[in-house]
Amino acid sequence: MSLSKADIPSSPPRSSDLDDGGASLGHGSAVAADQPVEELALERDVATDEVVVLDYGGQYSQLIARRVRELGVFSELLPHHVGVEEVRKRSPKGLILSGGPASVYAPGAPRLDPALLELGIPVLGICYGMQALVLTLGGRVEGAEVGEFGRSQLTVTEHGRLLAGTPDSQACWMSHRDTVYAAPEGFAELGSSTESPVAALEDVGRGLYGIQFHPEVVHTPYGQQILTTFLEDICGCERTWSAASIIDEQVAAIRAQVGDGRVICGLSGGVDSSVAALLVHRAIGDQLTCVFVDHGLMRQNEGEQVIAAFRDHFKVPLVAVDAESRFLDRLKGMSEPEAKRKAIGAEFIRVFEEEAARIGDARFLVQGTLYSDVIESGGGTGAATIKSHHNVGGLPEDLEFELVEPLRALFKDEVRAVGAELGLPERLVWRQPFPGPGLAIRVVGGEATKERLDTLRAADAILQDEIRKAGLYRELWQSFCVLPDIRTVGVQGDERTYGYLIAIRAVTSDDAMTADWARLPYDLLEQIASRMINEIREVNRVVLDITSKPPGTIEWE
Ligand code: XMP
Repeated sequence: MSLSKADIPSSPPRSSDLDDGGASLGHGSAVAADQPVEELALERDVATDEVVVLDYGGQYSQLIARRVRELGVFSELLPHHVGVEEVRKRSPKGLILSGGPASVYAPGAPRLDPALLELGIPVLGICYGMQALVLTLGGRVEGAEVGEFGRSQLTVTEHGRLLAGTPDSQACWMSHRDTVYAAPEGFAELGSSTESPVAALEDVGRGLYGIQFHPEVVHTPYGQQILTTFLEDICGCERTWSAASIIDEQVAAIRAQVGDGRVICGLSGGVDSSVAALLVHRAIGDQLTCVFVDHGLMRQNEGEQVIAAFRDHFKVPLVAVDAESRFLDRLKGMSEPEAKRKAIGAEFIRVFEEEAARIGDARFLVQGTLYSDVIESGGGTGAATIKSHHNVGGLPEDLEFELVEPLRALFKDEVRAVGAELGLPERLVWRQPFPGPGLAIRVVGGEATKERLDTLRAADAILQDEIRKAGLYRELWQSFCVLPDIRTVGVQGDERTYGYLIAIRAVTSDDAMTADWARLPYDLLEQIASRMINEIREVNRVVLDITSKPPGTIEWE
């Protein structure tokens, strides 16, 4: 069974930084993007080739870096203004200039530093990147009357080096208004498209290449091939970046950082903290202790699964704290969402600190920071959405630990690949995002009592079970139940009932910034509803949430 494509929002695929299944307890507070560029530097023992992508603010910039990595070459996305030294420091084998939203003639439009073209490495400009290249070298770029957005047709007049092996006529994806009318001196014009007189060009001698279309999106069928040509034939990269090479690289880096020090890691059961913990354990074994705080707000059997995977299967030293009653006590009488979040956050920190003190001399703390966190909080060009770093368990800054961040260089899909390579069970690798405050913010409008949480947990277990059986779990960004603080009248077995209402929330999304409600098949919904009502005594009505985001949020609180 699968959801139709129309159900999936059309925004470009992006890596998400929102999901660590409970890694953070805050609800999306933004931080300023004025972090120094040095924080972008990814500590690497340069074993694999690298290509730098300079970000001119295009909506597909991250995707370019991901595509390059998918082709087996490590890639970093840096803001366009970092300066030539930042690029040189990385000894990249090639440079890609991304697209961007500005017109090259707009006041304040980002300029291309000509020194970047003198690094002695091949440069590929894409869309805005190509226009900036052409303008810098004296070609002709002009604003066109008609823009070119979406699918277009590329006619190749000369394949040159960059388009070698691709057809004379091919589909490509465009998104621009400025257009190149004449290549700079020394360049060969390789082809045109419906609205672009020069849609591809190259100067093989100087190692400069440009394409107006987007090779990184799936709507450009020869895009991967063109990128491969650039990486392999033109830059001479070896395509050795893989989940296995990431593990080797990170294990070495962790050992070098930590030495014989003791390390602790807050484990939530989410994919980021799980993979981070396993990587650190692979590197330093029993020097690591994981702390799993079970706040009683998890889904059914989740705590047991985490303990079984880490303590029993991977033999990771694990302190599991059963703090359910502490948390439920803190939540007594509370119904306001932010009050619940704050109470849970504060209690979490207290429990974690107590455990850390018991462990004693730990100097290092593992954090599941992802590359998208790094880019979006430090590398903003003004175009990127800025989100907060998600601290493990929302831990305060003044905890005196040195951070170990083995996922700092990785996109979400790479974290999953590393998790799978390390043997993490599929259930954990593919877990849908789960908020830090857990089920407490899904018992809405009222107190999260043990009774209500148990009812919600039972309903949620049925939903997950049916969604998995229908083969839809991975297609959905999230699927969960909500239990509002209301009861409704029903009739069951000739008796009047007055029971709880369960709302089903299932959404598709690329990054949680926007979401659409999933068109779950009616038969599946019926099966879910009847199981909930038959199997859970307290429930007598099931409804479906059909609100997209915006205007709704994914969670109800
Ligand atoms: P909303 O409800 O704002 O959620 O559309 C966007 C994404 O964030 C998750 N979420 C949270 N994650 N702590 C978290 O770690 C929180 O307090 C929190 N609130 C929402 C939500 O599940 C969705 O994936």
